[in-house]
Amino acid sequence: MPDSSVSTTRAGEITERRERVERRIRDLLDRMTLDEKVGQLNQVNGHDGGVTDELAHRVRAGEVGSILNEVDVRTVNELQRIAVEESRLGIPLLVGRDVIHGFRTILPIPLGQAATWDPELVRRGARMSALEAAGHGVRWTFAPMVDIGRDPRWGRVAECLGEDPHLAGALASAMVQGFQGEDLADPGSLAACAKHFAGYGAGEAGRDYNTTNIPEGELRSVHLPPFRAALGAGVATFMASFSDLNGIPASANRFLMTQVLREEWGFDGFVVSDWESIPQLCIHGLTADDREAGLAAATAGVDMDMVGEVYADHLAELVVEGALHEALVDVMVARVLRVKLRLGLFERPYTEPERFPVEPPPSHFALAYDAAVRSAVLLKNDEGLLPLAMDGIGSIAVIGPLAQEPQEQLGTWVFDGDPGFSITPLEAIGVLAAEGVHGPTGPVKVRYVRGLETTRSEDRWGLPEVVEAAGAADVALLFLGEESVLSGEGHCRSDISLPGAQEALIRAVRATGTPVVLVVMAGRPLALEAVLDKVDALLFAWHPGTMAGPALADLLFGRAAPSGRLPMTFPRVTGQVPIYHAHRNTGRPPTPETFVHMRDLPRGASQFSAGAASYHLDTHYTPLFPFGFGLTYTTFAYSDLQVTPARMATDGEVRVSVTLENTGERDGVEVVQLYVRDPVASVTRPVRELKGFRRVALEAGARRTVTFPLPAAALAFPGRDMQPVVEPGEIQVWVGGDAHTALGAAFEIVAP
Ligand code: NOJ
Repeated sequence: MPDSSVSTTRAGEITERRERVERRIRDLLDRMTLDEKVGQLNQVNGHDGGVTDELAHRVRAGEVGSILNEVDVRTVNELQRIAVEESRLGIPLLVGRDVIHGFRTILPIPLGQAATWDPELVRRGARMSALEAAGHGVRWTFAPMVDIGRDPRWGRVAECLGEDPHLAGALASAMVQGFQGEDLADPGSLAACAKHFAGYGAGEAGRDYNTTNIPEGELRSVHLPPFRAALGAGVATFMASFSDLNGIPASANRFLMTQVLREEWGFDGFVVSDWESIPQLCIHGLTADDREAGLAAATAGVDMDMVGEVYADHLAELVVEGALHEALVDVMVARVLRVKLRLGLFERPYTEPERFPVEPPPSHFALAYDAAVRSAVLLKNDEGLLPLAMDGIGSIAVIGPLAQEPQEQLGTWVFDGDPGFSITPLEAIGVLAAEGVHGPTGPVKVRYVRGLETTRSEDRWGLPEVVEAAGAADVALLFLGEESVLSGEGHCRSDISLPGAQEALIRAVRATGTPVVLVVMAGRPLALEAVLDKVDALLFAWHPGTMAGPALADLLFGRAAPSGRLPMTFPRVTGQVPIYHAHRNTGRPPTPETFVHMRDLPRGASQFSAGAASYHLDTHYTPLFPFGFGLTYTTFAYSDLQVTPARMATDGEVRVSVTLENTGERDGVEVVQLYVRDPVASVTRPVRELKGFRRVALEAGARRTVTFPLPAAALAFPGRDMQPVVEPGEIQVWVGGDAHTALGAAFEIVAP
């Protein structure tokens, strides 16, 4: 059969399936009472195993549409049985869970996955997570979180996909594809949820749940695009943010939930509130009581109430009183039923655990290993200390509170992760040593000293032993950073340097003269300027997950090469944040000529003896490491940047190509990044914006041309009227290995 008829048949099947779903929704709505309709909009919390009489009663009465936090498969199936067999209309429950970066097998935290710049790996990771979770009765995950994270004080940057809308969008759609699979009705697929709509990452001072003030243009060019990308990948649900956006909390924000999401983007799935975010509308000061809060949320476009019980308590009464049209309730219920029908829950309400592996198979650990390897970012490597050259090393001191912590290496949001599967760095290094990583005098000796009780400990009782072990070793491997509890929801920090006495530990090890490799595990970028010159090599590993140990040991010993790149800019000191690559220029940008550090100001300096430019006097204006940065065990050179044609119409496309050469002696992977700037526009544009990236594996000495298509549409931005516009004029282009790359060119956009 020719291709066109195959696709026509497929399109016909899809239309037919859609129509069938809509018919079934109409049929159900015709038969539902108002209370049953409201029940579909109510999500309740589970009880971690076991069916209480009260819950059974509510499900039987049709008062519950969804349940979260229930992963005991027998309990899920029993609740489902009550819903399907004992409730009047037999509508199945939708079971949700935060499956954020793995389920039993834990992948790197999402920010670490973003550091892979590898959408296919991220897709496979989400697929693996879906299969593990589906075996426990889960059919809906509250992921991906696609909030743009530009303030690393915010604990939830751990869960985000970085600071950049293009990177986050590409990875968000990969995650959606992984969770939802080819067919949502496959029992191994989960409905995904793009959260938190919208602007949650912009909370003032990096404090969780905090107020956000985001002008519409900024919202549309920075915060909304990753959500749009998730929708493009077919995401089934959205979650409203906890936060207040410009005076209207997201859970009552009609502009977001209806104008943008439904009217502009055509989303036909449902929006769930965040946990009790509907009753919290009263705490925000938007509504006087729960009844008003329910009315505000429903009319804004929030379809399901997560745990708040506001819809359950007030929606029916609001309809009866005439404050809320029943037709709107019907629309909300239809959206929920649509997702349940698309998931095939009516046909297959029960989880068949025997369809899924009881324990994670080896392939899941292999994937977790690959993801951990690819997420680690090599930030410093003086004199090529890494990979460790074993012919010169007889003994290693493994030091630090994170070398042997099976739980901490998993990171935040690991409700179902099993630390029993974790392999720690200390264990993996021990295995490598025992298996024959030989130094000049036989097997390498490994000595472990914890040094500090936790990453937060100020108590220095362990430092003398650290010094003794480091002094006696040929190399000191420090495993420091943050335990998982220092990031994640509600876990923000005002100072993002290494906590506790860790800087003192590094200084003490440095003083021994032994070469120092610092491996940082953390849930956020850290401000590491104070320690950077005290270590010879620095590998930033995020929280790498189950397979942290083998991944890090292989990277340190050269069985694998680092290929991660920063998905967030690393500040020198906390006071620089928010600091991100796609900032706008200001009228007084700092330059080497205008910048004066305060230590260089003469005594009695007058007001304008410093540069009157946009910087802090007590630190440099550049970050410690730019967005996109990362080293590996080889080097790459870029040349011959070309844009063809040199002029394009406002609806045209150019091709940007560059020659990449592996100039080192090892094979390696480079993440080639394409940046643009629109230097003169009706609304000022960022100094650089990422518009493309590609992971390229290249053998030592090899060259390759890398080409990016760049359509004019990718250069559109919200104009003064908020409509997308592509303006004629010059566009500057750079291609390279990070956001500060110097290799540039330009082309012209012309009116058609
Ligand atoms: C609150 C969090 O903000 C959200 O991301 C999560 O999915 C829900 N709680 C459910 O646990």
